[in-house]
Amino acid sequence: MKISIIGTGYVGLCTGVGFAKLGHDVTCIDVDEDKIEKINKGKPPFFEENLENELKKVLNKKLKANTDTKLIKNSDVIFICVGTPSKKDGSIDLQYINEAAEEISDFAPDKYFVVVVKSTVVPKTTESIIPILEKNGKKVGKDFGLCMNPEFLKEGTALHDFLNPDRIVIGEYDKKSGDILEKLYSKFNVPIIRTNLRTAEMIKYAVNAFLATKISLINEIGNICKKLGIDTYEVAKGIGYDKRISPYFLSAGCGFGGSCFKKDSLALINEAEKLGYEPKILKDTIDLNEEQKTKIVSILEEKIKTLKGKKIAVLGLAFKAGTDDIRDAPSIEIIKKLKEKGAKIFVYDPKAMENMMKIYRDINYCKNIGEALKNADACLILTDWEEFKKLSNKDFSKMKKKIIIEGRKVLGKKVKHEGVCW
Ligand code: UDX
Repeated sequence: MKISIIGTGYVGLCTGVGFAKLGHDVTCIDVDEDKIEKINKGKPPFFEENLENELKKVLNKKLKANTDTKLIKNSDVIFICVGTPSKKDGSIDLQYINEAAEEISDFAPDKYFVVVVKSTVVPKTTESIIPILEKNGKKVGKDFGLCMNPEFLKEGTALHDFLNPDRIVIGEYDKKSGDILEKLYSKFNVPIIRTNLRTAEMIKYAVNAFLATKISLINEIGNICKKLGIDTYEVAKGIGYDKRISPYFLSAGCGFGGSCFKKDSLALINEAEKLGYEPKILKDTIDLNEEQKTKIVSILEEKIKTLKGKKIAVLGLAFKAGTDDIRDAPSIEIIKKLKEKGAKIFVYDPKAMENMMKIYRDINYCKNIGEALKNADACLILTDWEEFKKLSNKDFSKMKKKIIIEGRKVLGKKVKHEGVCW
């Protein structure tokens, strides 16, 4: 099929490369010329494992990228994958979704086509763009179809997740729209859940709310475990074998970051409150996570009374391993606290330093782990990068004091250290 994808963020581009890999003809469209230029050179505008490799294989064969929206003219299916950023009150900004709908209406294919919203949008949003899509006279259900198809891609493994989904959710305006989208996914041997549009929108929010809550719950258990001298990770192992719980997303630590969990939970809270319902668990999930992020600084202060003038090595800035993304990363809040307390901050991350420089210019960015650790009074590990997992006592030997605290479970038993909840 001929597919157009509007928006080349990590969801749009990974979806595009994924469909191209499956043999479809994909056109990726973005207003950002810089992004399109990079993609056309075979360079994804962000770091994502294996994406560059796979992009190069399909580029100019099965995938092309352009800033010209008119190219949607030949499409059978048009995906909207633009951002839905948070507004101050937590609700989502639909500006880019509405703009994409305007463009689809202006450059609509002459034949029947299906519009698919993949961006994360609160229930009823997809229905709300119908008047924009119809503004030039074409009718939904007759001239074009409409679906909502949430993504469940994790950064760092996004392409793998696209190609190996647990299930595919298709929210449909009518059966014909859903049938066409299901055909597009026909090579996947997984359950396909067909729903109406707003149910599909809610499934995405419910997944992220559930996962965020699961992490906050294990962090709460972890905080109690730490006080009792119990290893949280042994507890997680013990409960993870229970099929009702599952072993995933039970890693306690310095809280969740990233572009989705907080943003989506806040949007759901905002939506619920507009409907007159107070979502208590979701609010607590966010509150606990905000406290959890900087707990590591309080633990550090128990060991070093005053941080003023002390050299603190921070290993890991990305919100998780496998990405250069620092959106909502615990490292941002932790560095802010360390700065307020007058610490001298030396950071290292294999991928995310350039992004962090846009937030903090006045901290020290190190070329390698050794430079960050040399003469340090303490070391905080905030991302679960593989290279940190390999660190041994020798790597820490040049520190002034061997105070090592982890926000993610990284170091083995050989290196003496402490964790946020272990
Ligand atoms: C998430 C969702 O998983 C994905 O389905 C959605 O489409 C986008 O948001 P992502 O943000 O890329 O994906 O990463 P994820 O692996 O879910 O981790 C999010 C945060 O939670 C990270 O900071 C991670 O370190 C943290 N986390 C994850 C924990 O603290 N403990 C865990 O057990 C798992």
